[in-house]
Amino acid sequence: MNLPQTVHNQSNAFLLKRYQHRLLEQLELRLPDSPTAVPTLRQAMRYASLNGGKRLRAALVYATGETFGAPLADLDAPACAVECIHAYSLIHDDLPAMDDDDLRRGQPSCHQAYGEAIAILAGDTLNTLAFEILADSKNTACNGTQRCRMIHCLAVASGETGMAGGQTLDILATGTQLSLQQLQAMHRLKTGALIQASVQLGALAANTVNVQDLAILGRFASSIGLAFQVVDDILDATASTATLGKNSGSDSLHNKITYVSLLGLQSAQQTANELYQFALEYLDGLSDNTDRLSALANLMVHRSH
Ligand code: IPE
Ligand code: IPE
Ligand code: MG
Ligand code: MG
Ligand code: MG
Repeated sequence: MNLPQTVHNQSNAFLLKRYQHRLLEQLELRLPDSPTAVPTLRQAMRYASLNGGKRLRAALVYATGETFGAPLADLDAPACAVECIHAYSLIHDDLPAMDDDDLRRGQPSCHQAYGEAIAILAGDTLNTLAFEILADSKNTACNGTQRCRMIHCLAVASGETGMAGGQTLDILATGTQLSLQQLQAMHRLKTGALIQASVQLGALAANTVNVQDLAILGRFASSIGLAFQVVDDILDATASTATLGKNSGSDSLHNKITYVSLLGLQSAQQTANELYQFALEYLDGLSDNTDRLSALANLMVHRSH
């Protein structure tokens, strides 16, 4: 056993746990289980956003912000906001009209638990809640300009030139063929954009990052964001349903084009490793202590689910 590596892995996991814990507390505050005018909607939103999930996007917000000196209190809003968008994207991704998956985070997908109509509405409402949270001036020292920039950043990453655009390309490509370049572009949009936004949001909240470092962070996030979806493709083909908490083999069942279907398992793995190495090399270009970001990059690529 390589002891230093083991210790390293433990401290990476500890960092993520700390961020996961904080995120959950903060999300609970913004989505309390209290009586509302439309109780079913709130329950469905809570079901899809509070139960499980690795919270890697929130962790990237916290890690980037902390790296550049932001207090955690100023990072709570962007961390919650990006997880709201992510949870919404997963609800819609699982719908029968999209990937038609009935299992998510080890439990019935939102539409299985609440029906399609409520699931769609819960997704819509998590989407708008994200921007409500970012716009709110309570509990943050981030000024109006910063909050506006964060809203713009998350909106672009979620929309036509980000997640929703990528999801559209995914649906249109299902059952057809794509070149590697097209597949890469699709993955960068549907998954990479929100991961890139997570890093940008942390930097925007810190408000201390110069233009050169911002560009380096962008390259880091772009590499690790693409790697993350390549690993998702690999796990779909290799891990069990029990480990994943979602249906294993869903991609091939639904004729999805993935890094595994296009390149084969070995090349897909090699691509993920290369992207991970690039990401670490980009971090070397920053003069700040980037241990938190490299720890998260490691966990994003070397994961079981
Ligand atoms: C799954 O994301 C969907 C992708 C974009 C690949 P995660 O693997 O981060 O899902 P959770 O949040 O941990 O459930
Ligand atoms: C989903 O990609 C990307 C999203 C924007 C939600 P996948 O369809 O591969 O994600 P999983 O495997 O269902 O989590
Ligand atoms: Mg999908
Ligand atoms: Mg899916
Ligand atoms: Mg997948």
